[in-house]
Amino acid sequence: MAAPRPQQQLLLLLVLLLAARRAEAWGKEGHIMTCKIAERYLSEDAAAAVRELLPASAGGELSTMCPWADEVRFRYHWASPLHYANTPGLCSFNSTRRFLLLLSFYRDCHNSNGVQGMCVIGAINNYTDQLLTYKDSTKSSYNLTESLMFLAHFVGDVHQPLHVAFEEDEGGNTINVHWYKAKANLHHVWDVSIIDTVMKNLYNKDLDTMVEALHMNMTNGWSDDISQWKNCTNTQTTCANDYAVESVGLACNYAYKDVEEDITLGDEYYFSRYPVVEKRLAQGGIRLALILNRIFDKKKVDTMPLYAQ
Ligand SMILES: *[C@@H]1O[C@H](CO)[C@@H](O)[C@H](O)[C@H]1NC(C)=O
Ligand SMILES: *[C@@H]1O[C@H](CO)[C@@H](O)[C@H](O)[C@H]1NC(C)=O
Ligand SMILES: *[C@@H]1O[C@H](CO)[C@@H](O)[C@H](O)[C@H]1NC(C)=O
Ligand SMILES: *[C@@H]1O[C@H](CO)[C@@H](O)[C@H](O)[C@H]1NC(C)=O
Ligand SMILES: *[C@@H]1O[C@H](CO)[C@@H](O)[C@H](O)[C@H]1NC(C)=O
Repeated sequence: MAAPRPQQQLLLLLVLLLAARRAEAWGKEGHIMTCKIAERYLSEDAAAAVRELLPASAGGELSTMCPWADEVRFRYHWASPLHYANTPGLCSFNSTRRFLLLLSFYRDCHNSNGVQGMCVIGAINNYTDQLLTYKDSTKSSYNLTESLMFLAHFVGDVHQPLHVAFEEDEGGNTINVHWYKAKANLHHVWDVSIIDTVMKNLYNKDLDTMVEALHMNMTNGWSDDISQWKNCTNTQTTCANDYAVESVGLACNYAYKDVEEDITLGDEYYFSRYPVVEKRLAQGGIRLALILNRIFDKKKVDTMPLYAQ
């Protein structure tokens, strides 16, 4: 094969640069951890349904498929806005629906063409809704394997504070910082850098050791909080909206706080922020299990209906 011509090289470079922007959500690790936690809290019925829906390549483990939605981001370009939600520079997420004729509008949940519901909250409700047609072949025209893989990914994403953040800076993507000595942007710091550093400092760079520590904490440090994490009184849809409200609050109080362009973030930032990241990974796991149990557990589904709007 001939060497690529300069034009082609430039194009390739451009493609790579574009790919680097907002390319991931929680990095691979974050998504895998969230799903590994969720797997431990699935009811028998839910675990069986999940196993049946997973592709053979998953080896029966949901966590292996949780980064999938990032891997298909270029093939499924329409799904890009489903990884996040933006607010107009405000620390509140406004999901109040306004009605005009038969249409409804959300301030903070639409894609760049204004198509309503095309954000991470809409996506979680959408894929939940699709999975509720499991075993009901008359209603199911969707590929439920994909619905499951999308849902598992987006429940992780909605817990990453900078996935529900300011439109102006693309959730921190346009804020350049240094993470210790390395160049990064703020979004990447929260997707990947903090997790990498905490894995290196505390868990011997081992993902399973970190999952184990988070899991242990469910019965220790967090035991009093878990009933509140699981509390979802919204019987019409999931509680994704509440998780988004939490995230933008954390974005303002932790992620953006005291950060400016070109700042170097080091120990002070790391030590005050990593506990937030650990907690969000754990909460994402618990909530994903909750949603899947409500979808698939036939014993509970009558008392906890989950119909997306
Ligand atoms: C949310 O948006 C609606 C409609 O735009 C507005 O009426 C309402 O005051 C907003 N609520 C908050 C808490 O900002
Ligand atoms: C709902 O899922 C379908 C199938 O993947 C997709 O075409 C549609 O854009 C999704 N909408 C939202 C809001 O997630
Ligand atoms: C459903 O989606 C998965 C993942 O994209 C794909 O491998 C599989 O072939 C699809 N199944 C059908 C019936 O289209
Ligand atoms: C366990 O929970 C406590 C209390 O919230 C928290 O301070 C600590 O960082 C958590 N530990 C881990 C490993 O997440
Ligand atoms: C669950 O949340 C609702 C509404 O926020 C609240 O009224 C209720 O007390 C909570 N229940 C528990 C067990 O935390």
